[in-house]
Amino acid sequence: MADFKVIISTNEIAGQIAAMLNRQNKLQRKHSMLTIVQSPATYFVEVVGSVVVGCTALLCTHHSKVSKSFHTSVSPYYRGRGIGKKLMSATLNNCTTPFIYGTIRADNVASLALVYSVGFKPIKKTFIKNHYIITVGRSI
Ligand SMILES: CC(C)(COP(=O)(O)OP(=O)(O)OC[C@H]1O[C@@H](n2cnc3c(N)ncnc32)[C@H](O)[C@@H]1OP(=O)(O)O)[C@@H](O)C(=O)NCCC(=O)NCCS
Repeated sequence: MADFKVIISTNEIAGQIAAMLNRQNKLQRKHSMLTIVQSPATYFVEVVGSVVVGCTALLCTHHSKVSKSFHTSVSPYYRGRGIGKKLMSATLNNCTTPFIYGTIRADNVASLALVYSVGFKPIKKTFIKNHYIITVGRSI
């Protein structure tokens, strides 16, 4: 059986994910190569050459039978080509709990369209600080 090795290093992938999230995802917390490497999540990544152009994270929390989907991001030039959907499908195929959820700002039309396109449904709407957050989820 052949053994396949990716040339780009783990730290390089993590650093690029952190930079992409900091640039695009309107997160409260700034990320670094270390915060991503030390995360307990599994990251699915799309790489072109040695550049990470998309990512999404999956955190399976077995004790509660619910997993979390988060940190989904695609570089602007590569959007609208199905990369987000491909990454979300990988998440769903690798999810080992019966249910998965995520939270998305209500004004984030692209992200909501993405998760609805792979079967998530809105569960609740919460007002936090100055904006609404939609919790979305689906059975596996
Ligand atoms: C959300 C995001 C990851 C989508 O990635 P993408 O690779 O462009 O998405 P895809 O091309 O796979 O599209 C998936 C579905 O969403 C829809 N979609 C994507 N962008 C859309 C937009 N701007 N408006 C409406 N629908 C959109 C597509 O039509 C497709 O639906 P379909 O399969 O039913 O036709 C990307 O826009 C992004 O990185 N946004 C900034 C980061 C962010 O906000 N992340 C989420 C934080 S919660």
